[in-house]
Amino acid sequence: MSKSNIKYVCSNCGYESIKWLGRCPSCENWNTFLEEFVEEKKKYSRKKISDIHLSKLNSADYEFEKRIKTYIEEFDRVLGGGLMPGSVVLIGGDPGIGKSTLVLQAAAKIKNKVIYVSGEESVNQINLRAKRLNISSNEISILTETNLDVIFSAIEKFEPEVVIIDSIQTIYKPELENTPGTITQIRECTSELMQLAKKKKCTVLIVGHVTKEGIIAGPKILEHIVDTVLQFEGERSYSYRILRAHKNRFGSTNEIGIFEMHEDGLHEVKNPSEIFLGEREKEITGSVITASIEGTRPILLEVQALVTPSYYGNPQRVATGFDYRRLSILLAVLEKRANLKLSSQNVFLNIAGGIRIEEPAVDLAICCAIASSYSNQFVKSGMVVIGEVGLGGEVRSVNNIEKRIQEAVKLGFKSIVIPKNNYKTLNIKNSIEIIPVENVTATLTNVLKA
Ligand SMILES: Nc1ncnc2c1ncn2[C@@H]1O[C@H](COP(=O)(O)OP(=O)(O)OP(=O)(O)O)[C@@H](O)[C@H]1O
Ligand SMILES: [Mg+2]
Repeated sequence: MSKSNIKYVCSNCGYESIKWLGRCPSCENWNTFLEEFVEEKKKYSRKKISDIHLSKLNSADYEFEKRIKTYIEEFDRVLGGGLMPGSVVLIGGDPGIGKSTLVLQAAAKIKNKVIYVSGEESVNQINLRAKRLNISSNEISILTETNLDVIFSAIEKFEPEVVIIDSIQTIYKPELENTPGTITQIRECTSELMQLAKKKKCTVLIVGHVTKEGIIAGPKILEHIVDTVLQFEGERSYSYRILRAHKNRFGSTNEIGIFEMHEDGLHEVKNPSEIFLGEREKEITGSVITASIEGTRPILLEVQALVTPSYYGNPQRVATGFDYRRLSILLAVLEKRANLKLSSQNVFLNIAGGIRIEEPAVDLAICCAIASSYSNQFVKSGMVVIGEVGLGGEVRSVNNIEKRIQEAVKLGFKSIVIPKNNYKTLNIKNSIEIIPVENVTATLTNVLKA
């Protein structure tokens, strides 16, 4: 094979080069270039002018709008109400996180015709899993195949409404010389599946592995081709799994689905607050309960901080489940505005339950947890703390305050600290003691026991 038939592709972002490079100029990762064969370009034949038609928007098929339910509520919500007919959904996740389990459970529940294409496991292996998940084996049609042409023929023959591909890395298009799992194969197979989905109005669910960098193997490029990208994630040491939408052409990307992995498969977690607060020690310094909004749902969470004197030059700051830079800002605010001498203290912060929070409404709870651990004072029992903290130490209002308060009421909390500006517009005032606060210093005097 002549040298001119070879190109080098970055396995991380898809950047192409005619020579091997140590570092990708696009995504700046090292050692990501892989050799791939250049496929001969097919001659492009122009469509006859008479074959081209324009469509009017109001001629769209509204039956098309009907979602295909997976009857797994957490999954359907993340999808935006179910699978959109004719769409392509990519589910990525670390090895062993439970992707095959999730799609198999969904396949068993979907009432429409489903074909589960497995390139990774034999029928026996899938059967064993199905038994473990209490799925009766005649509920799902399985095809163990990796050749895309055969998969297409099977789709032509059986005309399924949903096709599950587990996983895209094992599927290959025989006309291409590249081995399965290479960028070219993954990209070509996905775009063919996309065309098929649109043409046949068949929904395709693709499972994809994640590389160690946390990017769905190779195909950052895939994210642009498909309609929806879901990420299935979880901490190894916890049995919780979170399904998140990174991109969704037919729904919100704020929504998350929470599952718990058991021997008999994934169980939906419908009341996440109870679970995340379940293992909480009642009286402990540095522990504060806050309410976060994940998608449309409020979740009560425990923020834990441990502040210890540092005997070496550089005090340590470690944050699990929270942005490290945001923690540094909050520490600076506490130091300057509330006069806590934190520059000589190690600060360890943890959001219990292995969940990650990104919204600023938990700032105030984090400040209270740090102050509580630093001063060895308990936080008053039965209290929830909510608020964003500004650089001036002021407490700023947050969205969805009523939903957060209702969740605290539901779980039997006695009092809730909220931003003063939110208090002014509040309708529910009687069901729980509400303490409006204006700044961090005032909050600490209200929250910490004397
Ligand atoms: N007997 C069992 N009891 C409890 N949990 C189990 C059992 N068997 C498997 N599991 C769980 O299922 C997970 C594997 O699920 P699954 O095969 O669906 O993952 P996957 O994401 O498809 O993995 P891969 O990347 O290898 O395809 C295991 O990591 C484990 O957590
Ligand atoms: Mg699998």
